[in-house]
Amino acid sequence: MNKKITEHLRYGSPSAIPEIESGRTIDTLLSHQSCRAFLDRTINDDMKRLLFAAAQSAPSKSNLQQYSFIDVKSESIRAELVHMFPSIRWALEAPMLIFIIGDTHRTQEINRARNQTFRWEQTDAFLNATVDASLALAFMIAAAEGIGIGTCPISKVRESSEAITKLLNLPRGAFPICACAFGYPQSETPSISPRLPQSVIVHHDTYQPVDFSEIDKYDDTYNRLAGPPKARYPEKFGMPNQSTWSDNVARQTAVLERPDFREMCESQGLFGEQNQQPVGD
Ligand SMILES: Cc1cc2nc3c(=O)[nH]c(=O)nc-3n(C[C@H](O)[C@H](O)[C@H](O)COP(=O)(O)O)c2cc1C
Repeated sequence: MNKKITEHLRYGSPSAIPEIESGRTIDTLLSHQSCRAFLDRTINDDMKRLLFAAAQSAPSKSNLQQYSFIDVKSESIRAELVHMFPSIRWALEAPMLIFIIGDTHRTQEINRARNQTFRWEQTDAFLNATVDASLALAFMIAAAEGIGIGTCPISKVRESSEAITKLLNLPRGAFPICACAFGYPQSETPSISPRLPQSVIVHHDTYQPVDFSEIDKYDDTYNRLAGPPKARYPEKFGMPNQSTWSDNVARQTAVLERPDFREMCESQGLFGEQNQQPVGD
């Protein structure tokens, strides 16, 4: 499809989205790798517009588009984030840093402005917004990587979700899902993270039990291709003889992470008593 027509169809008018050379989508997807070291090279506003347009091109439940992006440029907000999470300074100081927000606020505002009452089941509403936001982020990541920009989603920021909610001034109905760092990669070295075999992920006709011989094989493949992963929580569980992906899954899920996340959701009006307090008040 002609590029100008595509832009026109997406926003209803031609926008200033830059022309760009990009590779084949399938190649981009199959060579995905997270990037954690960026060059000191700006991602300009035209490029950002292009990336946000790619994000907004993702499918969305009933076209409700229940997500927002916050592009954090303010030095004081970035400094505050680094103060909160010093171990991910590399991400918080990336050339482009966005927060991905699940956003039922806008939907609820529209519902109210058009004289209706929001009656959606809360968990379903939360899931709808989370899925919309995740798909948009995935499209944005793919678009960025297709034009040579490295990316890394960051859920570490949810460790202080209440503080993030305040720092970013999120209204009721909006919640932080993760951040994502973008920048031109410092290194071109491929470092592809092996994935589970399709025999584990793809079920035929009905769900099949976990086949541990395949999990064991994956642990071996992972260690052979990428080297043993860094053992999680060694201070709690000790050092394993041989660290593996599955041992890390077990270790990570044996520790209660982000215990206050639900509390933040409740204070944002996402869970708890339904329709007690109108959004925005
Ligand atoms: C929702 C989400 C949150 C993530 N959070 C972090 C994070 O806080 N820190 C980090 O270094 N990587 C983070 N990652 C990146 C994953 O660690 C990475 O995708 C995974 O190890 C697979 O590696 P790959 O992306 O290079 O294939 C996150 C990825 C996703 C999808």
